[in-house]
Amino acid sequence: MEIKGSVALVTGGNRGIGEAFVRAFLAAGAAKVYVGTRDVANAQHLVDEGQGRVVAVELDVSKPEQIEAAAARCQDVSILVNNAGQFAMQTLLKAPDLTAARSEMEINYFGPLAMCRAFAPILGKHPESAIANVLSAGGLVAVPGMGGYSPSKFAGRAMSTCVRAELAPQNTSVSALIVGSVDTRMSSHVEGAKETPETIAQVGLKAIRRGEGEVDTDYMAIEVRANKARDPKGFELLMRRSLSGERVTTGR
Ligand SMILES: NC(=O)c1ccc[n+]([C@@H]2O[C@H](COP(=O)([O-])OP(=O)(O)OC[C@H]3O[C@@H](n4cnc5c(N)ncnc54)[C@H](OP(=O)(O)O)[C@@H]3O)[C@@H](O)[C@H]2O)c1
Repeated sequence: MEIKGSVALVTGGNRGIGEAFVRAFLAAGAAKVYVGTRDVANAQHLVDEGQGRVVAVELDVSKPEQIEAAAARCQDVSILVNNAGQFAMQTLLKAPDLTAARSEMEINYFGPLAMCRAFAPILGKHPESAIANVLSAGGLVAVPGMGGYSPSKFAGRAMSTCVRAELAPQNTSVSALIVGSVDTRMSSHVEGAKETPETIAQVGLKAIRRGEGEVDTDYMAIEVRANKARDPKGFELLMRRSLSGERVTTGR
């Protein structure tokens, strides 16, 4: 898929990994980039940077009416990046109730699914088009300290596989981007090595160009996949350390 001349929409594009995607699309020659953002004022810096190529769109992915309005307005999208996400940092049993787990499912799973459903007909108007779902190594291994988040990213992976099959006939590729630890507000509590948002965006664009399926975007994601394959039981026990707040990263 050619990025030059494409029209991209990035959810949660106002900061973090989403913001890096917006800049990467601009640098790669996208004709237009829609920045999906809960508050359009938070994307003004990117609108200014884009010099006419960036459009801020109010878009909370947990609000069906805003998804519908965005689809009605952005009829020229050829690449959709489902990046918006939430990490509530709760465990499944100690959380006071199901509010956080439901919210993570809503934002990390149902939101991207609703976006895929709303934008599939729009993407299908192009001879080639793409969806990239920003997922997590927490969707490769269940991390007990990421109670609601990990299951929501597992669901996002399964959804990516199902939607990939459904959209193959219209030549829309669906990439599931498995991301390790990245230096953004979401991971501000994490110590140790982190990738830059720019690295993830570059790998994401490469996956879109190649129409790849599931892609590990960084060393942590690769190591998590390898460790799980090598010693599933041992790795599961290692992940239990997340309950006591200990680091569960690959130690890089
Ligand atoms: N950082 C990591 O270590 C890491 C690792 C693996 C995967 N990821 C994934 O990468 C993606 C981006 O995360 P990030 O690290 O860039 O985090 P971030 O800096 O916290 O940014 C999260 C973005 O998602 C937006 N967002 C949250 N809830 C939303 C909703 N209901 N509707 C629309 N937008 C919403 C936020 O908007 P506001 O500015 O309005 O809050 C913000 O733009 C997420 O899917 C995350 O799960 C991150």
